[in-house]
Amino acid sequence: MDDTATKKILVIDDEVYIRDSVIGFLEDFGFEVIDAENGKIGLERFEKDKPDLVLCDLRMPEMDGLEVLAKVRQQSSKIPIIIVSGAGNISDTVEALRLGAWDYIIKPIQDMNVLYHAVSKAFERAEFILEKNQYQKDLEKANVELKISLETLERTQNQLVQSEKMAALGGLVAGVAHEINTPVGVGVTAASFLDTKTTELKKTYSSGELKKSDLESYFKTVEEVSHSILINMERAAELISSFKQVAVDQSSENRRRFNLKEYINEILLSLRPRYKNTSHKIQVNCEENIELNSFPGAFSQILNNMIMNSLIHGFKGLENGIIQLDIMRQKDAVIQFVYKDNGNGMTPEQKERIFDPFYTTMRGKGGTGLGMSIVFNIVTQTLKGSIDCESSLNKGVCFTMKFPEFWEES
Ligand SMILES: Nc1ncnc2c1ncn2[C@@H]1O[C@H](COP(=O)(O)OP(=O)(O)O)[C@@H](O)[C@H]1O
Ligand SMILES: [Mg+2]
Repeated sequence: MDDTATKKILVIDDEVYIRDSVIGFLEDFGFEVIDAENGKIGLERFEKDKPDLVLCDLRMPEMDGLEVLAKVRQQSSKIPIIIVSGAGNISDTVEALRLGAWDYIIKPIQDMNVLYHAVSKAFERAEFILEKNQYQKDLEKANVELKISLETLERTQNQLVQSEKMAALGGLVAGVAHEINTPVGVGVTAASFLDTKTTELKKTYSSGELKKSDLESYFKTVEEVSHSILINMERAAELISSFKQVAVDQSSENRRRFNLKEYINEILLSLRPRYKNTSHKIQVNCEENIELNSFPGAFSQILNNMIMNSLIHGFKGLENGIIQLDIMRQKDAVIQFVYKDNGNGMTPEQKERIFDPFYTTMRGKGGTGLGMSIVFNIVTQTLKGSIDCESSLNKGVCFTMKFPEFWEES
């Protein structure tokens, strides 16, 4: 046992002979020893000198050992207490152990090594308990810190997922705004052309020089131009209405009834600005009469992410990419939704990690790696389905999603 010199032992015994021999023996081993001749003084010394261990007799005047023990235990549950008592006091010794004494030695002490052994064992045990408590405290602290960082991480992840969803919506808005600009621009040009023509006609009429041919030419212009205005305004209205629904659905998590095929066409219409200037094509093959009571926003998030991934990753460096959607009802009211592209495909590692949050091969180039993890969560949690990915390098990708056609709201 090391650093004995720093350990302080309190010996409480009414027999001076015992005290002296114990003190002498322990001091030889380098312990600092203090003593008391009865329980009352012993307790006072305990409070004043704060020993590291107490050796205590049971039968003593003033205050007996059991009472000392109980009082010491009230102050400290950890300090080692060893009972030194006569062979006749077995029942008291048992009571002492029950009250929290760590060990006992029978008086008269025949072999001082027994005492040394009991004292060293008690100090080792105290050391062990101290270490264990420290370890437990460290562990608890680490646990609390871990919990806090986990919470922060979860919060950050949620925020990121949310902002990725919003970014998808932002992209949709920009694309659609751009798309609407064209028909509205054509409409404005056509209307102002009509305005000019009408002013000219009025002038000619006022001057009394209006010919029949002027009027006929004006009618022809009005007919053509108003037709063009009508077509362009209808196109804008169509874009706005499908976009409005898709945007509202995408930003909310509302459940409602919709026809899957019609809705997919609306989503594709609002995504069209993203690919209409490329030579890539989207083909849809969807069963007509699938009426879902589900979350339309989920479908628009899924398609938005998958189509953008095909355009960005799959068709990188390629022309004439084809995206193919096959949606059909299987038996047992399961909807199977297959999404394929014929692009660059993925390596086994990419395929393995595609649904991991933050996994991206475009880090620093606009990729967040959240798209497919959002898709995974939407399919498995919102739609209560499953998703599987098949892909190899230069062989395109194929996602097979399956989800129930009906389910009860929980
Ligand atoms: N259609 C695809 N073709 C090839 N690789 C793809 C396709 N879709 C996804 N990936 C791969 O999966 C990764 C993760 O996709 P995603 O979670 O949407 O993150 P991000 O698009 O931000 O990179 C992409 O970085 C890409 O390597
Ligand atoms: Mg993506």
